[in-house]
This record gives sequence, C-alpha cells and structure tokens, in this order.
Amino acid sequence: MKTRTILVTGGTGLLGKGMGETAPSGIKIFSVHQRDYAVEDSKAEHEVLDIRDKAKVDALFEKHKFDAVVHAAGIASVDYVERHYAESLESNLVGTLNITSASRRAGCYLVYVSTNAVFDGKKAPYAEDAPVNPVNKYGRLKTECERLVSETLSEYAIVRPILMYGWNHPVCRPNPATWILEKLMRGESVQLVDDVIENPLYNIQCGEGLWSLLKKRATGIFHFAGGETVNRYEFGRKIAEVFGLDASLLKKVKSSAFPDIAARPPNTTFVTKRMERELGVEPRTLTEGLAHMKANARVKS
Ligand SMILES: NC(=O)c1ccc[n+]([C@@H]2O[C@H](COP(=O)([O-])OP(=O)(O)OC[C@H]3O[C@@H](n4cnc5c(N)ncnc54)[C@H](OP(=O)(O)O)[C@@H]3O)[C@@H](O)[C@H]2O)c1
Repeated sequence: MKTRTILVTGGTGLLGKGMGETAPSGIKIFSVHQRDYAVEDSKAEHEVLDIRDKAKVDALFEKHKFDAVVHAAGIASVDYVERHYAESLESNLVGTLNITSASRRAGCYLVYVSTNAVFDGKKAPYAEDAPVNPVNKYGRLKTECERLVSETLSEYAIVRPILMYGWNHPVCRPNPATWILEKLMRGESVQLVDDVIENPLYNIQCGEGLWSLLKKRATGIFHFAGGETVNRYEFGRKIAEVFGLDASLLKKVKSSAFPDIAARPPNTTFVTKRMERELGVEPRTLTEGLAHMKANARVKS
C-alpha cells in the first residue's frame, strides 16, 4: 500500500506529539516548526520552516506532494498573543494564509486547528454550531483564521481542541498538567482558579481523533474534548491524586487574583457528539488520561 504523507505544521507541539504517538501504519508525518533546534523523533521527519515566509511555504509544497495538511502551527499562548499582538498576527493569520493558499493550489484537504477560545464562555456547553464571540486577542485571531479557511477552501475541517494536556516534546512549552506536576514534585504551592471550567483533552485522544478525521476526510467543524468537566483547581487535585502528590500544596483562587493576564472565557465545556458519532472517538476521563500519562512517562523525551 502507498505511504501517505501528511504535513503537520507545528508538529513539535503538544498536539503534534499526540499525532506522532498515535500515527497509524502507512503514514509518514512531515513536520515543520519555527525555532532552530533538531528533534530526535522516530515518528516524524522534522524541518525548520517559518510559516510566515510565503516563498518558503510555496517551495515546500512544490518539493513535496502532501496527501493532507494539519495546520496547527502558531502562537498558542493566550497571554503571549495578548502582549505581542503584531507578532501573533503574522504568525497566526499570515502563516495561516500562506498554508491555506499553498494547500488550495495543491488541491490538499486541510485540517485547521482552532480553539475553544472562539467562545465567550457564558452559554456552555457548546456544540459546533454555537455562535462564536471571543473575549481575548488570541480567540479573535483564531476566529478570523477559521473564517479564512472556510471562505477560501472547498475541502477542509476545523478542529477545536479544548484545554490540552499530556507529555510534550521537551523543546516546547509546558502545559497545565506538566506545569502543575513539576511544581508539586518540587514541593511548591500552586494557585489554581476555580472559575475557569473545561472538559480537558488528552493529547493522545486528540491525535486519535485527528487520524480518524484524516482517514474519513470529514468536513466541517469538530469539537474535541475529554469526558470530564472540571475547573482548574479540580484539575490540579486530580493530578495530585493520580500521581500520588501532596494536594494540600494546591491553593484555590479566583481569576481576579491575576489581573494582568488576558481575559478567559469562564466555561467553554464542549459537546462532543460529532467527534464520538462521526469519528468513533470516546472522550477519555481525566483519570484515564492522567493514568495513561503516568504509565507512559518515558515518552516525555
Ligand atoms: N494546547 C492547548 O491547550 C490548545 C487548546 C486549544 C487549541 N490549541 C491549538 O492547537 C494548536 C497546537 O497547539 P500546541 O499546544 O500543540 O502548540 P505548542 O505546543 O505551543 O506548539 C506550537 C508549535 O507551532 C510551531 N510554530 C509556532 N510559530 C511558528 C511559525 N511561525 N512557523 C512554523 N512553526 C511555528 C512551534 O514551533 P517552535 O517550537 O519552533 O516554536 C511548535 O511546533 C495551536 O493552533 C493552538 O492554537 C491548543
């Protein structure tokens, strides 16, 4: 059977790691990232390429024939986008324009990775057809990218992952689970809010969902989330419980304790029926995801 080559932009990120860990046989992942580092990875071929550079993106698509594209690259930190908006516009919006234009010319099916931050968090739970209304700059940029994708491509899907956790490549930013774990293991106290609520998504489940989507070449919007709704403080408690760490180090606070960070939508819990019925993906509970992380700690590096 012919090997299919999938371009994953931002393939060294948490989502890319989840895709690598769950890649089916007969697939080759070609991944691009921005900073100048090499990645030891038996699951994917990695290249340094800045998606803001249109000439380089076009040359990439001329050199390779991709069977599909998963576009996940960009600045994914809500607070970084709020503080560095011009840079984020280039990375997230110009980068997305470059990738979608090249995909359109090459006739590639594209999956755009968006976010729960397209919602204002006032009317959870959210199904795919709920009206968007972002409350911060990151959410506004991702909403604009969704529009760009849906108005310029004929064969595409938009996946909105909610708060993601799992083992990241050590080169990339920590996620709430690895950040809390490291603090607890060092015996440091951690302040966690109890007024931001999600059904967190394990990056391995996200990878499984993306592979199912790519296999079916499904179109439209899909919400990806886990099977348990928690606030961030409860999330921390679950981590302490599963990893056998000291939960008394966790301090419950309100979002108002952090006046300098970007606004967060309070409750963006997703409805995941499309993911379950059309992609055959069961939402994993936090206990399942964290227990899997604990049992697979070696895949961290
Ligand atoms: N993590 C979450 O909780 C979450 C939730 C909802 C949606 N999402 C979305 O899911 C996607 C993936 O998120 P993630 O958590 O996996 O991200 P991540 O861990 O922060 O990784 C970001 C990836 O994008 C690459 N990248 C950034 N700017 C680039 C550029 N100009 N050119 C090429 N590559 C670039 C990074 O490369 P370098 O390492 O070289 O910088 C890295 O590989 C993002 O679109 C994000 O908005 C994430």
